[in-house]
Amino acid sequence: MEQTELRPRTEVRPVTARQRAARAARNGGEPTLEFTERVPYDTYVHASTLHQLQQPLSGDPGEMSFLMVSQIMELYFSLTCHELRETTRLLRADRVWEALAPLRRAALHLEGLNAAWRGLRWMTPADFNRFRNLLGEGSGFQSAMYRHLEFLLGLRDPALIRPFRRQTDVYAELTDALATASVWDEVVALLARYGHELPAELLERDVATEHEAHPVVEAAWVEIYADDGPDNHLRMLGEALTEVAEQFGDWRHHHVKAVQRTMGAKVGSGGSAGLAWLQRSMARVVFPELWSARTAM
Ligand code: HEM
Repeated sequence: MEQTELRPRTEVRPVTARQRAARAARNGGEPTLEFTERVPYDTYVHASTLHQLQQPLSGDPGEMSFLMVSQIMELYFSLTCHELRETTRLLRADRVWEALAPLRRAALHLEGLNAAWRGLRWMTPADFNRFRNLLGEGSGFQSAMYRHLEFLLGLRDPALIRPFRRQTDVYAELTDALATASVWDEVVALLARYGHELPAELLERDVATEHEAHPVVEAAWVEIYADDGPDNHLRMLGEALTEVAEQFGDWRHHHVKAVQRTMGAKVGSGGSAGLAWLQRSMARVVFPELWSARTAM
């Protein structure tokens, strides 16, 4: 794709409702067609910048959908991280009711992310093989934003930040993310503040490591769900978190299916055993006690 120069950063000029109405009256029902500079849409959305970012490696017409679906998923990973960071901020301040909004958005974005897999359903092993070698050792396994998302959700394998050691900014961000409490760590701390008796080993644990399911947290959720009254915000929080965990699980499931569909059990481009490695990775559960508690409800 032809490269065009990145445009200088300009500001979007705000307008009032009165100015908007005056403009519409002058336009006689038609949209504005004349601008003295770059259209404000592009100043805001940076669409022209986004559309410069597709650089396929082959002449294969199918590669573009593989590349762009990957980019679309990267944006969704980032957006979901944004919502989960907002969630942790609100939970830390005991604003449970308000935390439901970013959690709902996160679940909806994950739904959009999952729908993006449909754009790859056309791909047979022969289709993938036409450009696969050109991807070299490049693999989604090296997605820093996916790793951020896992860290926020509480899936924390510190070894998985090693690939980024030579990218100092990315490495520093991931190291920070590992040192910061996950959504689940914040939820556990919140439950303690709401009067559930939780052991110090849980509340003071090293957040850089993966949380292990704990029977006391499970018991707290059984108790919370026992009250199905409309004012039980913690039960609503539990359901909103469950939705996020389920949607994230669906992404992993769709990924494994896409892998099986396009490369069977061949080894991965990122150096792993492929399918077998992914199935092991999927065994790690997001918000584990929210699932296990249901047996006792
Ligand atoms: C059909 C196309 C795809 C195939 C065949 C495929 C294959 C694989 C394989 C084999 C792995 C294991 C690591 C390795 O490479 O050795 C992997 C990991 C991964 N891939 Fe894909 N992938 C595909 C599409 C995508 C897309 C579109 C994304 C979105 C960005 C993505 C994101 C990831 C992530 C985040 C991991 C790491 C998962 C984890 O840590 O559990 N993959 N992929």
